[in-house]
Amino acid sequence: MTAQHVVLVGLMGTGKTTVGKRVARELGREFHDSDADIENREGLSVREIFEARGESEFRELESALLERLLVSDVPLVLATGGGVVLAERNRRLLKGSHHVVWLRATVDTLDSRLRVTKGAGRRPLLDGDLRERLETLSRDRSDLYQDVATSTIDVDGLDSERVCDLVVACVRGDQQ
Ligand code: S3P
Repeated sequence: MTAQHVVLVGLMGTGKTTVGKRVARELGREFHDSDADIENREGLSVREIFEARGESEFRELESALLERLLVSDVPLVLATGGGVVLAERNRRLLKGSHHVVWLRATVDTLDSRLRVTKGAGRRPLLDGDLRERLETLSRDRSDLYQDVATSTIDVDGLDSERVCDLVVACVRGDQQ
């Protein structure tokens, strides 16, 4: 039977990978990072896939991976790419039976984090004016994250340890 997975969604820079690793450790579950899985399978970075094959092909790879992971009968923790909610087929898969946690952050938080970590460099959708890109993505996607989320955590000002605790509490709370 398909397991109930913990799936982290949210914009780039919200900490899905860092938090997801911690949550997996805490819950004793296997961890998957969507971008890393795609990069390992294709032998190319996300940026190289965007540049060589285009965003639509990246989205196909992302949807196919999501489908494969969500049918696992082993309960996983999955950090998704920020754009996973764009495809209706992905939203349908996410909705209903999993713990889908939206890590929500203000544009101010994301802007400063991505500048400090230089995290924009490997993210093709952040090329150009970082703040303007983040504002657009946040405006366009907030309703989509809301649509799939079973819980929402405002991560502004919180470190990954605290966010991890909140995610674990959401998951355990849902199970009661
Ligand atoms: C994207 C987010 C990235 C990666 C790709 C596109 C997006 O993942 O999948 O650059 O559309 O928001 P992270 O959210 O893990 O950075």
